[in-house]
Amino acid sequence: MQSYGKYSNIVNFPQTNVDIVPVLIFKKINHLKAYLYQKKKQGQSVGFVPTMGALHSGHLSLIQASQAANTLTVCSIFVNPTQFNNPADLEKYPRLIEKDIVLLEKQGCNILFYPDVNEMYNQGEALPQIDLLGIDLRLEGEHRPGHFKGVATIVKKLFDAVEPHRAYFGQKDFQQVLVVKTLVQQLNMGIEIISVPTRRESNGLAMSSRNLRLTDAERQHAAIIYNTFLWAKQQLLTVPPKEVEAAAAQRINATNGATVEYFSLADAHTLAPVEVYNPAQKVVALTAVNMGAVRLIDNMLMN
Ligand code: PAJ
Repeated sequence: MQSYGKYSNIVNFPQTNVDIVPVLIFKKINHLKAYLYQKKKQGQSVGFVPTMGALHSGHLSLIQASQAANTLTVCSIFVNPTQFNNPADLEKYPRLIEKDIVLLEKQGCNILFYPDVNEMYNQGEALPQIDLLGIDLRLEGEHRPGHFKGVATIVKKLFDAVEPHRAYFGQKDFQQVLVVKTLVQQLNMGIEIISVPTRRESNGLAMSSRNLRLTDAERQHAAIIYNTFLWAKQQLLTVPPKEVEAAAAQRINATNGATVEYFSLADAHTLAPVEVYNPAQKVVALTAVNMGAVRLIDNMLMN
């Protein structure tokens, strides 16, 4: 068994014959930078998967996508305080680093960047003013004020630390992908942003670290979200978008424990509301649903 330094107390490390590549763990930006500088000089391509940990197979699918296109894959785990508008949510966010390291090793991820808060926010520095073209203000932005400013800030800092060739984000957080693409464009960062399809449980529930906090019953009831997207897709062919939105929200609200914050049909590029359905316009349905004490978000392309 490999030694993990401070993580040498990992339990249940798989004792199989499968080749397990140890993951290199960096906690300091300058150490990570120095290491990656050498690797890039040797011609290695770097793919980057930023996460907040409590890894599940959705995260692992991003790592797989990176491994398929790059010679080195870096994953970061950092629960970013500036993107939580609700302190209780930040506090309750699952932290499972030792399990995560095992998963990264099984997956053959090369590098884990695992900084602490002081490493990422050491100076209490003023955040860069980045115009996110209003995409950050709609939907999640409206319901979680400041959320995307926090996301953009940490993603910029992480990109500066890793300077990857490509970075991988889940379609599960549809608006986040648009925000990150806008950030990269606005700052001419030259990083290719790749959006990876949402991984779902067998009942259609989108995988999420937050699902750990659902009861078994809530997890089952949450299938209504995926189910309603499929229903809305059919409805949209004959019913006006605003009526589909209202009926979809009603459908979800009728489910035990579920309360809809929004169910919106939006332009898939700008997230502007869709007043009239035109099949030539790419449309996405996005929703945020409180299932018991857990806030779930999900989306589906309608055409
Ligand atoms: P986190 O919620 O940990 O998600 C990390 C990445 O995994 C995101 O790009 C997210 O969209 C993707 N992901 C989550 N669930 C997924 C699923 N079911 N299928 C496919 N991909 C999925 O998103 C964040 O962290 C943070 O905002 C971060 C970008 C790390 C900035 O702090």
